[in-house]
Amino acid sequence: MKTQVAIIGAGPAGLLLSEILHRQGVTSVVLEQRSREHVLSRIRAGVLEQTTVDLLRANGLGERMDAQGHPHDGMRIVWAGRDSFFIDCQKHLGKRFMSYGQTQIQEDLFAAADRRGALVLTEATEVQPMDIAGERPHVLFRHGGESHRLDCDFIAGCDGFHGVSRKSMPAGVLREYEKAYPFGWLGILSRTRPLPDVTYANHPRGFALASMRSDTLSRYYVQVPLADKVDDWSDDRFWSELTARFPPELAARIETGPSIEKSIAPLRSFVAEPMRHGRLFLCGDAAHIVPPTGAKGLNLAASDVFYLGRALAAWYGSGRTDLIDGYSAMALRRVWSSVRTSWYLTNLLHRFPGASEFDQRAQETELDYLKASAHAQASLAEQYAGMPFETA
Ligand code: APR
Ligand code: PHB
Repeated sequence: MKTQVAIIGAGPAGLLLSEILHRQGVTSVVLEQRSREHVLSRIRAGVLEQTTVDLLRANGLGERMDAQGHPHDGMRIVWAGRDSFFIDCQKHLGKRFMSYGQTQIQEDLFAAADRRGALVLTEATEVQPMDIAGERPHVLFRHGGESHRLDCDFIAGCDGFHGVSRKSMPAGVLREYEKAYPFGWLGILSRTRPLPDVTYANHPRGFALASMRSDTLSRYYVQVPLADKVDDWSDDRFWSELTARFPPELAARIETGPSIEKSIAPLRSFVAEPMRHGRLFLCGDAAHIVPPTGAKGLNLAASDVFYLGRALAAWYGSGRTDLIDGYSAMALRRVWSSVRTSWYLTNLLHRFPGASEFDQRAQETELDYLKASAHAQASLAEQYAGMPFETA
């Protein structure tokens, strides 16, 4: 088999890259280890920055998002005993957000791939990038009980944190940065009407978040100890803990109902640099993980594939090499900006086990400052909205 770009992973990064490349006349084959049903069953992020929304629209992926998504202007913050305040990205930057599930984006991406007859091979196993430092890279894999070789010009590693691509880079190439937080988020999805705003709560009992996927689908989270298991949390226990962490007037407006998904994820940050070695490029979770605070993960996957798609299209279109050579540095500038924002918000909004009274007062003073200062709010709005894409 032969193609121009071999893409490993059919998550949002891999399928969106394939779509962007197709629209620029560049061919690709996507190799995914799991089944399509498995990929489509994952419940993940769901707040899209304006740049991500624009990118999806520009690539023919906006129709259902615009019909079913929930547009909003920013984030509300509340903490124990105080009135809430709103970080208004529309007011400060003219940028909005869209609540629209990653699960729905995956469906839209598979539908678009089917429409153009894209080659997306699911249940491809033993996928291995080869000769990445040379001029003739290829990918070995097994599919349908047989061994295959896919020859290509470039390989895009869009295979998530546990994928094979990052691990295929030779020892000594990558520098890895990591931070683990001493808690997780327990999240649920329910068919209930959401609160009007994405609302972050810092409470002595721990962090809580009210979010949404649509006007009838809510997503809520509470900070939990790392040792907690999903089975420890009945729906009743979840709702009573959630509402205890919001001020009474907001808690009274939270509509409860049966959960349709419930999971726990530990919070951590990870960045691997550079995001390229030879003809292998990393995109999305394959290169970096952010804690969910600030909802940056999916948006970073989108910016990586925007930069890589543009760079590869320029290489094929006019032989331009500066964009593929500059890919890693350019992508990482936006990655670190979002890594920093999610680190800042994680520190601002959670209760850290073992925090001293000094730490606690410093955190509360930061919240007081944010609430009182229009400048601080404008600065956070800029970070929460995400950096614009750099021009080529
Ligand atoms: N071979 C082939 N496919 C693989 C391999 C492998 N060795 N390892 C992993 N994959 C596949 C996974 O099964 C998955 O479908 O790669 C895909 C990676 O998808 P994601 O984990 O969703 O990562 P990405 O596309 O970078 O999406 C960005 O944003 O909301 C965040 O973390 C969240 O998944 C989200 C991410
Ligand atoms: C979500 O809706 O899943 C969500 C929203 C905001 C976050 C994180 C997750 O900061």
